[in-house]
Amino acid sequence: MPNPNYTVLARKYRPMGFDEMVGQKAVVQTLQNGIRSGRIAQAYLFSGTRGVGKTTAARILAKALNCEKGPTPTPCGVCPFCTAIQEDRLVDVIEIDGASNNGIDNIRDLRELVQYKAMQSRYRVIIIDEVHQVSKPAFNALLKTLEEPPEKTIFVFATTELQKVPVTIVSRCQYFEFKRVSVKEITAHLVDIARREGLTLTETGFGLLARAADGSIRDSLTLLDQAVAFCGKTVDDQDLSLILGTINRDLLFEFSAAVIAGEPGRIFPLVEKVIDAGYDLRTFHKKLIEHFRDLLIVRTTVRPQELLSIGEADLAVFRAEAGKAGEEDLLRFLQALQSGEASMKYSSQPQIAFETLLVRMCHFHKLIELKDVIAGLDEASPAGNAGPVRPVAAGGQGAGPFGTRRPFSGAGTAPSASPKSPPASPPAKSKPYENAPSPPRPKVREEAGAPSGGSGKENALRFSNVRLFQDKLKARVVSVEETRPPRPENEE
Ligand SMILES: Nc1ncnc2c1ncn2[C@@H]1O[C@H](COP(=O)(O)OP(=O)(O)OP(=O)(O)O)[C@@H](O)[C@H]1O
Ligand SMILES: [Mg+2]
Ligand SMILES: [Zn+2]
Repeated sequence: MPNPNYTVLARKYRPMGFDEMVGQKAVVQTLQNGIRSGRIAQAYLFSGTRGVGKTTAARILAKALNCEKGPTPTPCGVCPFCTAIQEDRLVDVIEIDGASNNGIDNIRDLRELVQYKAMQSRYRVIIIDEVHQVSKPAFNALLKTLEEPPEKTIFVFATTELQKVPVTIVSRCQYFEFKRVSVKEITAHLVDIARREGLTLTETGFGLLARAADGSIRDSLTLLDQAVAFCGKTVDDQDLSLILGTINRDLLFEFSAAVIAGEPGRIFPLVEKVIDAGYDLRTFHKKLIEHFRDLLIVRTTVRPQELLSIGEADLAVFRAEAGKAGEEDLLRFLQALQSGEASMKYSSQPQIAFETLLVRMCHFHKLIELKDVIAGLDEASPAGNAGPVRPVAAGGQGAGPFGTRRPFSGAGTAPSASPKSPPASPPAKSKPYENAPSPPRPKVREEAGAPSGGSGKENALRFSNVRLFQDKLKARVVSVEETRPPRPENEE
């Protein structure tokens, strides 16, 4: 039976004063100095990721301004004003959720309200959370309010997405950036709370929680809540890693295996599995990004365990998986996942967006970038000094998006080189974009019994086709052309 009186840890341990805030030293110090010296801004803007103390700091600021003993950088916490704010019942301290009150009417109401002086307290404090969600007309109305500041009214805007707040608003605020809290500080905070709650965890357990929280104190406390709900007051490491996602990790490996092997058919059932397991797709997507990052780190660095803080056994699993893919492949996968994040976020069908992205990734080994096609054609044509059949050297000049060019087998196959055509080289499914210089490729025309140069007439025909094809492509890919280095003057 759930205990109706149970208060979640994150709420129970909301800091009451600035001195209780973990991390955010610069923010706290600047706010306190401002209050101490009477330099109180008309509007404050707090930005930072979820659960790092923005709302908490806004409320402490409201107390600091209104405390019976204040304005003071250290509100007492026991006077009628402090307690009323703590209990969320001081009429002059208003918290508005910008996400659900984002219309012009809401802001008009607010403007109406601020025409009158605060009723009971020294300062009226209006906290607008998730302010980036406020609509454009509402922002404009808000701007007017900020331009004719009502007396003794302070605005505190909080946002997790600073870039979405109009600069006109930002420039009228005193701006504070809340940082992600370090693993060390979160760990210390968790240790303290566990002690107060009579919970037992190992050092490893605390570390696991703190890392999983990814800089957010609220997340760390929510995870601790979950762990206690699952294990009781003594939290076992193995149970903990189960809760934090060992299952999750196996699933992540299933995904990376499917993508690396280039098997799109495995994606759909896997996505179903994620949904069945009850994971939020966007969260899982984020985890997948981290997973590919970890694989890349394992693939590229000498001592990955220091960066990833994982044990030897885990490292072996990562090594095995990362070893199946080239460094460039992993980088490409990671980049695709990252740029897919926005479309996941705004898609009305995140599942489809997720599936499409992953299926596309499975096909990466077959795709050649258009500009590489053009580059290959350039080198293959008589104008270029290359022989008729020469792969574009990997890692050469005019490197591709990851500093190297993927091999492209020259003129012999070029005109028909569609993404679907198989590579001229032996099947190189798992390592298509080798970093190392490519081994000599079988020359198509030689195989057909013709000398590599081909007869004069044949070559002329072939090259004119190549030219045509090339010109067409170039006409379409203006932007790619623009990025190419100019030809030397003396060249035709
Ligand atoms: N810097 C911090 N020090 C101590 N506890 C914190 C801190 N930041 C967050 N917490 C804990 O997390 C809870 C939520 O914090 P808060 O509401 O201030 O986060 P927020 O930054 O406003 O998040 P959101 O962007 O989701 O609104 C607090 O009640 C507290 O338990
Ligand atoms: Mg908040
Ligand atoms: Zn007080």
